Amino acid sequence: VAGVVIGAGMAAGPAVAGGGAIAAALLAVLPGALPPVPTPPENPPSEAKRVLGKILFFDEQLSSDNTVACATCHVPGNGGADPRRVRTAGFDGLLNTPDDVFGSPGVIRSDANGDYVRDPVHGLLAQVTGRNANPPINAAFATDLFWDGRARTQFLDPQTGEVAVAAGGGLESQAAAPVVNSVEMGHDGRDWASVAAKLAAARPMALATALPADVAGALVDRPTYPELFERAFGDGQVTARRIAFALATYERTLIADDTPWDRTQAGLPGGLTPQQQQGLNQFNASGCAVCHTPPLFTDNTFRNIGLRPPAEDRGRQNVTGLAADRGKFKVPSLRNAGVRPSFMHNGEFTTLQQVIGFYGGPARSLDNRDPAMNNVQLPPPPPPGQPLPLQVFLQTGLTDARVANQTFPFDRPLLYTDRPGDRPAVLAGGRAGSGGIVPAIIATAPPYIGNAQFKIGLDRALGGATAHLAVSSSPPVGGVIARESLLGPVTVPGTGAGAGPATLHWPIMPGSVTQGQVVYVQWVVSDPGAAGGEALSAPVQVRYFCGQVGCAPKCAADWDGSGSVTTADVSAFVNAWFAGVAAGTRQGDFNRDGRVEPTDVAAFVTEWLSAAGGAC
Ligand code: HEC
Ligand code: HEC
Repeated sequence: VAGVVIGAGMAAGPAVAGGGAIAAALLAVLPGALPPVPTPPENPPSEAKRVLGKILFFDEQLSSDNTVACATCHVPGNGGADPRRVRTAGFDGLLNTPDDVFGSPGVIRSDANGDYVRDPVHGLLAQVTGRNANPPINAAFATDLFWDGRARTQFLDPQTGEVAVAAGGGLESQAAAPVVNSVEMGHDGRDWASVAAKLAAARPMALATALPADVAGALVDRPTYPELFERAFGDGQVTARRIAFALATYERTLIADDTPWDRTQAGLPGGLTPQQQQGLNQFNASGCAVCHTPPLFTDNTFRNIGLRPPAEDRGRQNVTGLAADRGKFKVPSLRNAGVRPSFMHNGEFTTLQQVIGFYGGPARSLDNRDPAMNNVQLPPPPPPGQPLPLQVFLQTGLTDARVANQTFPFDRPLLYTDRPGDRPAVLAGGRAGSGGIVPAIIATAPPYIGNAQFKIGLDRALGGATAHLAVSSSPPVGGVIARESLLGPVTVPGTGAGAGPATLHWPIMPGSVTQGQVVYVQWVVSDPGAAGGEALSAPVQVRYFCGQVGCAPKCAADWDGSGSVTTADVSAFVNAWFAGVAAGTRQGDFNRDGRVEPTDVAAFVTEWLSAAGGAC
């Protein structure tokens, strides 16, 4: 189905209801009307797991090209939804037609080597999901996740296929999907072994600033993923199952249960205003609560409200194969609806007024529409200039202030994509090549020190041409930069004018550049059709940055910190390693997996050999 791109690899089959194996949550939640958080016994909560999950949720390094975190599409202050709302072609495959969907941009398509690939639909822009992002907040209460419930209650270990959670593992099943999905976070064919290897070598939260206190605290004495995994799971191994377990544990703490409605229920101050109360009465009288049932304001069933013809997106039918499920989608919780940027699985509406207008308007599609929709009867319109109490209730009566204000547990760091000043900036300039086409430069990778996947793309150049990336420390003059050095070459694939894309991989090695240093880059394409035989892309300003955890250390092989790698480092390391083994401490744990063992010596020697003689 054209409209569905997320987790397409997940097998379809009959849904299994969550069973009695679901234990009550041990994590503290505010007293309120919500039931205890269901938690599967296979994944008992712990503080170490929760913090690890939070770190993973906000780390853009979880994506192949370091541009997308879970939190890029799930913003706490937006109720866990995505304010970016990018229009994408729906069922008909055509943009700007009525069946378009508003989705979330993920990664620019790239192949298994990380080379940019032109996607048939999205070209070289970030690919867009086929549905609107629904929130992880309060998602813990649903048995099966996603709009169509394809993330199952039974969680199979993505690497071994074993049953990792027998029932109640919807969050675990869901969390494993985006990381290897080639639209959301992965390159084509991404596998879990490469995800694990990447994380093991990464500096957690390397791109983020304004770290929440719990995240910053956890990183003080455990600054690597293997150390964080060791504290959460007993040893430093990074696996798909553990990533999913940690993310799910974090999400089970994202419980928005302190709204004016909850306060009225509990007899606490800060409850519903008279107007909100009137809106609640209208909500109940209008037939909304049949599906949006308190206290969750969803009954977590799948229903068809006749938003669009089922053929445009079959929804639940894709998962169950049952014709009776055509066009059904998960009833969304209305908690925090007032801070959500868009509504419905297709992201069609941006205001609650529009949603109410839909429920009060003429039926759109009657094919398999839920009978409960026949009983929906909106209140009479308010006097001119007055708000409809029902709308006021939905707008403010179900909003948890901690979500709206992004305070614990809904607090968050700032991501790379939240800080325009850290992004490469495209400047004016460029010179046309064959066909009168100016080569395009793709500069979306984050230039943080230690980014081994940093890359610059080239598109719309002469097929078969050789291109270099010119690098300069001074700004362009007249749109052209001085060529202090030339990186490459790369060869433009394809034939004829305007071909591409090509990719230059340019790891930003610690020690080679300094934080805040600015360079200017520009593609130089040999092209007989260009003035002077060279086509130029626009110049780009790149400023190297480090997140709040600081810049990656220059070289790990400089064990004694002398500033250069010498034989003294070998003896210093070996002494530390023996001391670590003898005393059972972490000294000499070179690969930081929580154990001092021969693999650390091997890892050190490898690093030392590649760095020996070099200045640090
Ligand atoms: C590129 C954007 C994007 C990224 C990155 C992303 N998501 Fe989502 N998420 C979505 C969309 C879109 C949906 C709804 C898809 C559907 O139902 O077909 C969704 C659905 C979900 C849901 C289901 C909520 C429910 O009630 O059913 C959860 C939970 C979730 N995402 C958590 C995560 C986690 C954890 C990560 C990181 C591992 C993540 N997401 C990464 C876009 C994204
Ligand atoms: C038959 C069950 C049913 C009834 C009755 C119903 N809804 Fe819904 N509601 C749904 C479903 C299912 C969706 C998601 C539909 C989709 O995306 O295709 C939804 C979506 C919504 C949304 C968007 C939430 C989001 O995050 O996207 C709002 C707001 C909403 N309903 C409010 C109401 C109000 C107000 C009423 C009463 C006037 C009402 N609903 C009646 C089932 C129902």
